[in-house]
Amino acid sequence: MTKLAPSILSADFSQLAREIDDVEKAGADYIHVDVMDGHFVPNITIGPLIAESIKPHTQLPLDVHLMIENPDQYIPAFVDAGASIITVHQETTPHLHRTIQLIKHHEVKAGVVINPATPAEMIRDILHDVDLVLIMTVNPGFGGQSFIPRTIEKLEQIARWRNAYGLSFEIEVDGGINTETAKSCTEAGADVLVAGSAIFKHDDRRKAMEAIRRSAQV
Ligand code: DX5
Ligand code: ZN
Repeated sequence: MTKLAPSILSADFSQLAREIDDVEKAGADYIHVDVMDGHFVPNITIGPLIAESIKPHTQLPLDVHLMIENPDQYIPAFVDAGASIITVHQETTPHLHRTIQLIKHHEVKAGVVINPATPAEMIRDILHDVDLVLIMTVNPGFGGQSFIPRTIEKLEQIARWRNAYGLSFEIEVDGGINTETAKSCTEAGADVLVAGSAIFKHDDRRKAMEAIRRSAQV
């Protein structure tokens, strides 16, 4: 069954605990936490302090998406804050293998993510070492952007390699996922759908999530 990871970037930040509780009760699988530093991406969002403060309010794994320069420097702080999965951009670290090992050393699941313009080949050699591969389907930085259809080919390529190498990492997609775009992603091999605006901009989150799940069925 396809997993849903609501991105709290589109939630009401003055009511975060309530917003998280709402999507947890509505059947979310992960809470997707978008960390932006104003350098790697042109926006500033959540730091370890906020991750730590939401942790006691949910049983769900915190799926932490680091969109920051020098990720190694901040990984321990997000581990301490209670992250279950930490995903780093290939574009932010010259020593990707070392960064992935650093996450695993803390006994947290390790993910790697690539931007729409980064070829799948850039992460081929790290596939054996990760628990999750995130394919960006928009340019990271903001919620509410339009899905970039060309990213589907990359998704298919990653799924083919997973099969060919006998690996079992999860494949996640992030950006512009809604009832129109979800199916093309699950058909291409995505296991986890991140969705921000398509969930939090609706008053009835359960209904919004059910609609995405229904549309995503392969
Ligand atoms: C974008 C973030 C996404 C974002 C998705 O940089 O990584 O997680 O919140 O938002 P939607 O689903 O609205 O595109
Ligand atoms: Zn994200």
